[in-house]
Amino acid sequence: MLKIQEDLLIYENDINDVIHIFAQYYNDDECKIEIQCKNTGKFRIIDIVLNNISYNEEIEILDQILKDKRLIKRTIKFLLYKALSEFYNISMPWGSLTGVRPSKLVYDMLDDGIKMEEIPYLLNQDFAVSKEKANLICEVVKNQLEVKLKDEEVDFYINIPICPTRCSYCSFISSEYERCKKYIDDYVLSLIKEINTMKEMIKAKGLRIKNIYMGGGTPTTLTSEQLNMILSTIDFPFKEFTVECGRPDTITKDKLEVLKNHNITRISINPQTLNDKTLEIIGRKHTSEDFYNKYNLAKNYDFTINTDLIAGLPNETFEDFKLTLDKIIELNPNNITIHTLAVKRASVLIQNIENLKDNFIQNMVEYAYDKLKENYYKPYYLYRQKNMLGLYENVGYFKGSDICEFNVESMEEKMSIIACGAGAISKRIFRDESRIERCANVKQITDYIVRIDEMIERKIDLFN
Ligand SMILES: C[S@@+](CC[C@H](N)C(=O)[O-])C[C@H]1O[C@@H](n2cnc3c(N)ncnc32)[C@H](O)[C@@H]1O
Ligand code: SF4
Repeated sequence: MLKIQEDLLIYENDINDVIHIFAQYYNDDECKIEIQCKNTGKFRIIDIVLNNISYNEEIEILDQILKDKRLIKRTIKFLLYKALSEFYNISMPWGSLTGVRPSKLVYDMLDDGIKMEEIPYLLNQDFAVSKEKANLICEVVKNQLEVKLKDEEVDFYINIPICPTRCSYCSFISSEYERCKKYIDDYVLSLIKEINTMKEMIKAKGLRIKNIYMGGGTPTTLTSEQLNMILSTIDFPFKEFTVECGRPDTITKDKLEVLKNHNITRISINPQTLNDKTLEIIGRKHTSEDFYNKYNLAKNYDFTINTDLIAGLPNETFEDFKLTLDKIIELNPNNITIHTLAVKRASVLIQNIENLKDNFIQNMVEYAYDKLKENYYKPYYLYRQKNMLGLYENVGYFKGSDICEFNVESMEEKMSIIACGAGAISKRIFRDESRIERCANVKQITDYIVRIDEMIERKIDLFN
């Protein structure tokens, strides 16, 4: 049972986010939580009681609405985390942090003049972030500081929310090819219309495109002709252009040639795991051999290659994950991204919840960090998925200087993004005002085709 003092109800979502950290243990009937705040003039005393456990803290009010609200929110979250952590006798790697981008906090601290060396300690003291995660996020931010930003530059995103088949674990919105094939030609035409109008707008506003990302879904589900049509619209200079090929079963020599002809610089080919039994269970519809064949084929074209892996897939042991990662490292791809399986409560993979109760995934993630470091890979971007069980993190690693700048710029929300295609979210960053405005295209392919002019108008308004 949760009881929140009336004037603290504005923090209800944040309070529930903290409770969600303990979702695999939490039982509403056995926890009586009471959250209160006493006003003593210049100070507030935040008081949290969980059954017979209690925590409180006095904070000074500065009479600066935003800063005060932020401090009260952080204090409530931290104290509630401490109480739940004591009650269940467990510490969580990210402590009371619930946001998707923990790096934002590091950037805020740097902006406040705090030295990088002091930040891991503060993350641990004020947010109960573990030493390992605090060091990891600082390392990520240090590796990101290489990416330079200019005011007139924007990034460009193209979404292809179509896949050959649906993988059982997937948390992205994407349609199966068989279900949407009769709309794909029209989708490509609408997308081209949107891209062309955005090009005119970019020119008229004196903007310049820096990095481009075509993701989804699986863009290479399209035919080489359809890919060629879309990529032919990109007739301006750019620094980096990633195409998420993703599923090995969609990659052909023809498509790779189209990508090369259009100067694509980086592609993803994702095994997720090299265990064929798991691939079958998760409905990937390709084998580890398919992955090797397509990876070796793509090697002939000199792309920067990324491979995505997932820790915690159904029935996988630590040994399975280790074997996959070790074999991928042997291939020496430029980038390796380690995701941790994100499951919602209603997910078909709910049986995996038991795995989240011990250090099973944590051990995989730690092994990955150590092994990748040993092999000269460094972490450069990190994000967490909200409202998922386990609440671990996804980390992109790079070797040499092969950072994907788009990933950094979009994760850190530091660069405006003009995004085309169904479900694509454009963002305009007002750096001086520390403000972001967003505009999302409709998610369904059929709605997008019918409402294409509206999607275009909305984006023109956003960047006006
Ligand atoms: C947008 S998907 C596109 C990649 C491409 N379609 C593929 O499957 O190879 C990007 C990555 O998100 C990861 N992913 C998707 N659903 C996930 C989940 N529920 N938990 C963890 N990672 C997930 C996978 O590693 C996937 O490669
Ligand atoms: S192919 Fe990729 S985007 Fe498509 S369903 Fe599978 S994981 Fe999701």
